Amino acid sequence: MKKSILFLGAAVGLFACKTQHSTDVEMDKFVSNLMAQMTLEEKIGQLNLPTVGFDVTGPLLSKDVEQKIKDGKVGGVFNTYTPNAVRKLQELAITQSRLKIPLLFGYDVIHGHRTIFPISLGLSASWDTALIARTAAAAAVEAAADGLNWTFSPMVDIARDPRWGRVSEGAGEDPFLGAAIAKAMVQGYEQGNLSNPNTVLSCIKHFALYGAAEGGRDYNTTDMSRVRMYNEYLPPYKAAVEAGAGSIMTSFNEIDGIPATANKWLFTHLLREQWGFKGLVVTDYTAIAEMISHGVGDKSKTAELALNAGVDMDMVSEFLLDELPALVQAGKVSKAKVDAACRRILEAKYKLGLFADPYRGVSEERAQAELMSADKLALSKEAAIKSMVLLKNERQTLPLKPSQKVAFVGALVKDQRNLIGSWSGAGNWRQAVSLWEALKQQGNSDKLLYAKGCNLLNDGALRNQLNANDGQIELDSRSPQQLIAEAVQAAQRADVVVAVLGEAFGMTGEAASRADIALPNHQQELLRALKKTGKPIVLVLMNGRPLTLTWENDNVDAILETWFAGTQAGAAIADVLYGAANPSGKLTMSFPRSVGQIPIYYNHKQTGRPRNENQKYTSKYLDESNEPLYPFGYGLSYTQFAYSPVQLSATTLAGGSTITASVTLTNKGTRAGEETVQLYIRDKVGSITRPVKELKGFKKVLLQPNASQQVEFTITADLLKFYNSDLQYVAEAGDFQVFIDGSSNTNNSAAFELK
Ligand code: BGC
Repeated sequence: MKKSILFLGAAVGLFACKTQHSTDVEMDKFVSNLMAQMTLEEKIGQLNLPTVGFDVTGPLLSKDVEQKIKDGKVGGVFNTYTPNAVRKLQELAITQSRLKIPLLFGYDVIHGHRTIFPISLGLSASWDTALIARTAAAAAVEAAADGLNWTFSPMVDIARDPRWGRVSEGAGEDPFLGAAIAKAMVQGYEQGNLSNPNTVLSCIKHFALYGAAEGGRDYNTTDMSRVRMYNEYLPPYKAAVEAGAGSIMTSFNEIDGIPATANKWLFTHLLREQWGFKGLVVTDYTAIAEMISHGVGDKSKTAELALNAGVDMDMVSEFLLDELPALVQAGKVSKAKVDAACRRILEAKYKLGLFADPYRGVSEERAQAELMSADKLALSKEAAIKSMVLLKNERQTLPLKPSQKVAFVGALVKDQRNLIGSWSGAGNWRQAVSLWEALKQQGNSDKLLYAKGCNLLNDGALRNQLNANDGQIELDSRSPQQLIAEAVQAAQRADVVVAVLGEAFGMTGEAASRADIALPNHQQELLRALKKTGKPIVLVLMNGRPLTLTWENDNVDAILETWFAGTQAGAAIADVLYGAANPSGKLTMSFPRSVGQIPIYYNHKQTGRPRNENQKYTSKYLDESNEPLYPFGYGLSYTQFAYSPVQLSATTLAGGSTITASVTLTNKGTRAGEETVQLYIRDKVGSITRPVKELKGFKKVLLQPNASQQVEFTITADLLKFYNSDLQYVAEAGDFQVFIDGSSNTNNSAAFELK
C-alpha cells in the first residue's frame, strides 16, 4: 500500500531498478544519474546522521528534524525502530523530500536485537565462529524485521586492559581469533548480499585502536608503534574489510596525535588505498564536534579535517551539514570529496535495495513472526551455554546432583535486569529468564534453598551513577549483616552452596571503566562468611570483563564464568550447573591476578631479562607473579581431555611446502565433551622481536567418553608472516616452535625450521 506512494514521485524511473542481480556498472549508472540531479546542499544532506528516538506511536521528531528530512538534509537516522516508526519516517523522506531518497536506519545491534545473545566477550569464549555467525544472522533478521537496515557492529577492537568497560563488546585480546570472529560477524549480518531483506549493513568499529586507550579509561589517548599496530591491533579490522563489511566507524581516540576522525593516513591511505575499502565511513557519536575539545580546531576546521581525512557521514554533530557549504565555497574542501562521500552513502542504500523498496518489506506481521521467535530463543540458549567458561572445579563439585540440597545465594539469583548485559539495545530484560525461574522449572523445588545474601551493590555513589542509566539497583531493607546471616543459615541447611555474584551490567560497556576489577567488597564478605560454614561453594559469575579473583580461586570449590548470558541466561546456567550441558568455553582475555599486572596478555614479548625468581635484576614484580590467574585459551570441562605430544609431518618447511602438525586428543572422562584445540607458534628469531607465542589455528572437537581423535593443522609459510620494521609482510627463515594444547599456557611443542 505504502509502496504506491513512493512511485508517485517525479523520480519514478530512478527507483525502478533491479537490485538482486545488479552489477557495479548498473549501480554506478543509477547513482550517477541521481547525483546529477542533486544540488550541493542535497549531497551534503546525505552526509548527515542524526539520532531520532521513538515511542510506540512513532518517531519522536522535533520539528527541526522533520523539516530537515523534507529539505533533503538527512541521509539516515539511528535509534528509531519498529515497523511503524520506521515507516513514518521513511515516508517523510520518500514523499516529502525533493528527490525522494530513502533514509538509512541504524542502530546498535551488538549481541542480538530483541532476542539477546551473550555479550560479545562471552560469545567469543565459544571460539565457535559458525555459531557466532548464526547469532549475527539471527540478529540481522530481527533487526531488519524491526525496520533497521544498518547495525553499528561488530566491534573488533583488540583489548588487553580489563579496566576498560568496553572489553565486554569485543572478542578479547588476540588478533588471530579477533579476525576470525570479525569475519564471521560481517558474514552473518550481510550474508554477502545486502539486497536480501533479512540482512543489515554491518559497521566495523572503532577504527582504530580504541581498545588501547591508556589506563583502560574510556575515550582516552592511544599511542603505539606502527609495527605493533599492524601485527597486533589491525588484523581484525582488516579481516572485516576483506569479509566485505559495508561501513566502518571512526574511533574516539587519537592516533599519532591526530584524532582518528581527522586521521587521513588511517582512512585514506590505510583503509582505502592499502586495504581497498569501498564502503562508507561514519564517525562515532559527535566525534567531529569532540575534536574541538581534543584541540585541533574550531567547528569549521574540524569539519574540514574530517571530510578531508576520508569521513563520509557525520553522526550527530551536524558539523558537515553546517560547515561544508562554506568550506566548498572557500576551496578548503573540494566538490569531488563531497561527491565521493555522497556517492558512498547512496551506494550503501542501493546495495540494501532501498531504492527498490525503501521499507524492505517491513510489516507488523513480519515483525510478529520474527521477533523473539522460538528458533532465536533456542539459539540464544545454545550460545549462552557455549560461552560459559568453567574456571575451577575441585572434587567434581559441579555438576550438581539432583539429590543434593542446594542453597542458591546472591543478588543475581533472581535477577533479570542484568542478564542481558550492556548494549542490549532493543532487548527487554523483563523477558530474560532468571536463574531462579529456570531452577524452579527443573522441578526439584524441594531441594532448592534461597537467600539473597547481599545487595548487588552497596556503594551508594556507584549505585546512583548506574541507576541514573536505568540500572535499577535497589538496596534491600535488611541490613548487610542480616542478609549475610540469612545466607549462612541457608548454607548450613544445604549440601552445597551456589553463590551467584558479579558486576551490575552498567559496570561494563561504554563509559564504564573501573580502576578496581575485583568483586565488590560486600560480595566478597558474603563469600567469606559462607566459606566459614565449611560447605562446598560454587561461584557463578555474571560480569562483563576479566575480574581479579585470586581470593575466590583459593577459597571456593568451583567457579563458572557465565558473563551476561542474554535472554536465556538462567535456563542455560541451570543446564550447565546440573550437567544437562557440559561447559566448553575458553577465555579470550587473560584474567589478571591483580590490577597492577595490566596490561596482561599471553602473546607478549620476551625481555632481555626474562623473569627468574632467584635473580634480582630480572623482569618481575616484587609483590606479584608475572602470570595471569587464568590464561588466554583456558577453560575446563566436566570431562578431562588428554593431549599426545605434538607430531610434525616434517621438520623443515621449504618452497611452497606445508607441515602437518597434529596431536591425538582423548576424552579420558566419563562424559561427552567439546574441546577447543589451539595451535600456537613461536618464531624464535626475527628481524624484529617476536611474541613468546601466537595463536595460529583452533578447532572444536566433540568427543564421546574414551574416544580419541587426531587433530591436524596445516602450517604454511603464509601462517608465519608478520609485518617487519619496514611494514612488509614477510616470513623469515629460521627456527619455529609449534604448540598444540587446550590453553595458551603450554609447553606441549615440537620444532621445525623454515628454509
Ligand atoms: C559508541 C558507538 C556507538 C554509537 C552510537 C557511541 O557512543 O562509541 O559504539 O555505535 O555511540 O550509539
